Amino acid sequence: MGVVRALAVMALVPALFALPASAQEAQPEELVDALNGVFGAHAKMRAAHTKGICVKGNFTPTPEAAALTKAPQFAAPVPLVGRFSLGGGNPSASDSQKDNVRGIAMHFQLPDGSVSDLLLISAPIFVAKTPEVFLELLRTVATKDKDKIDAFFKANPNSTKQKAWLTARETPASYATADYFGVHTFYLTNAKGERQGVKWTAEPVGGFKGLSDKDAEAKGADFYAKELNDQFTKGPVEYNLFAVLGQPGDQDDDPTSEWPADRKSVKVGTISITGLENAEACDVGIFDPNQLADGIEPSPNDKILPMRSQDYAVSFGRRTQ
Ligand code: HEM
Repeated sequence: MGVVRALAVMALVPALFALPASAQEAQPEELVDALNGVFGAHAKMRAAHTKGICVKGNFTPTPEAAALTKAPQFAAPVPLVGRFSLGGGNPSASDSQKDNVRGIAMHFQLPDGSVSDLLLISAPIFVAKTPEVFLELLRTVATKDKDKIDAFFKANPNSTKQKAWLTARETPASYATADYFGVHTFYLTNAKGERQGVKWTAEPVGGFKGLSDKDAEAKGADFYAKELNDQFTKGPVEYNLFAVLGQPGDQDDDPTSEWPADRKSVKVGTISITGLENAEACDVGIFDPNQLADGIEPSPNDKILPMRSQDYAVSFGRRTQ
């Protein structure tokens, strides 16, 4: 390195330290530490979506799906391993908490032995546009200082949208009756090489069913597992999976913003959850939103999406230590 360049780099170092936390790039370890800062670190458990239930089932694509993507799970039915969960890192989180997301994560098991993953939550939006904002949110919440927390949300109004969306509707009565969203934009490519931006939505076949605040409270903290088991005695739990089609100009970089409500959606298949699976089948690996078959790609403009793989790897490393 030439002297002039070395001096220039040294001159930059103090400037970097002077930047506010949100302007520096968040590191995956920092995000997992910050999740632990809010929810505690729980040995052998996930740093987020800690409370969950491992399940199995299958996915059957519609004939229309292949026109959108060449990914094998949209050409013929595949088995799947999945996991329902509550958002956050509290292993004792309450199933009746209204302003928490429910999650469903799935490994579609492909004929060649690989998997293609799909992770959905029960809100169409996330709480932060970038990893840096999410880190700042977690660190601020961990202070438990009401003034600081209020100031954060005032400065970051997009981070208030998920809670507002969740509290404006009823608490899902069951994992089986919640609707789920992929939140991010993904690009699908079909066999002709045509590309289409989409957002995923899964709707329970019988429609969303919720509980009033009073009924949810009366159910207590742990009724989802029994509810799911009761559903399985009657038959599989099924959802229609839709690809909502983006149009030119629709934002593909912001998981805190929704597309206009009039976007066309195509039913691409039925998710059928048939029963419980051994927890180990869900815990030996990572449900990773970027683990995708050829024919599905993450939006290159979204800053949260690539960071998720790194965060999940850190959480996986710690929980399997
Ligand atoms: C930078 C932002 C995010 C961070 C730091 C984060 C962090 C985490 C972590 C640490 C885990 C546990 C991973 C493991 O141990 O296997 C997890 C799981 C999960 N996350 Fe995120 N997450 C983020 C964004 C999102 C978004 C936008 C969604 C929306 C779909 C989402 C949905 C899920 C789901 C459904 C699970 C449960 C997976 C399972 O059951 O194993 N996350 N997240």
